[in-house]
Amino acid sequence: MKLEVLRAENISKIYCQNAVSLQALRGVSVTIQKGEFVAVLGRSGSGKSTLLNILAGLDKPSKGKVCIDGTDIFHLSEEKRTLLRREKIGFVFQAYELLHSLTVIENIRLPELTKDAQYVEELLDALKIRQYEKSYPDQLSGGEQQRTAIARALVNHPPISPDVSAITFKGMLGEATKGNHFPEGI
Ligand SMILES: Nc1ncnc2c1ncn2[C@@H]1O[C@H](COP(=O)(O)OP(=O)(O)OP(=O)(O)O)[C@@H](O)[C@H]1O
Ligand SMILES: [Mg+2]
Repeated sequence: MKLEVLRAENISKIYCQNAVSLQALRGVSVTIQKGEFVAVLGRSGSGKSTLLNILAGLDKPSKGKVCIDGTDIFHLSEEKRTLLRREKIGFVFQAYELLHSLTVIENIRLPELTKDAQYVEELLDALKIRQYEKSYPDQLSGGEQQRTAIARALVNHPPISPDVSAITFKGMLGEATKGNHFPEGI
């Protein structure tokens, strides 16, 4: 049976800056079922990050709605939306957005809901960052920062998350980690 985890309907986004408006998204609709892997492709500036930010409830659309597990997230208070995001969505920011005054392990555990030390250990190993757990983000390579951001996105086992099987086990940690093959995602 298909189980819908995320549905976006007719999303538009207009940014207004200095009396100039820019339409970043125009009527985007998408439905994502449980177990489905979805990639958003498009040229630079085409609106990928804008869409991901809206799907994750980090930014509001100018028009349209987003439902996660049947809940219209923009009808929730800011606080409730934040709590829902923390529980249900793993998000890797394009620029990682690690907190620079915290160590790798502190960054990963920052949003942690249930304290599952063993799972955190597994993430450190799977993402090959165990040796840096006490390092600060500024002491890491770009790829190590990226993998720390991925671990943070996965720490709560969110149902909507980066595809860890694709990222960690099918190449991301091999030669491919030298490049930036997974800039952002949920
Ligand atoms: N906060 C903002 N205020 C004004 N304009 C913005 C803002 N954020 C993004 N834009 C504009 O909206 C458009 C879409 O930006 P977005 O960041 O979604 O693109 P993208 O597809 O993620 O690009 P890239 O592949 O380079 O990351 C761009 O023209 C960008 O300049
Ligand atoms: Mg982007």
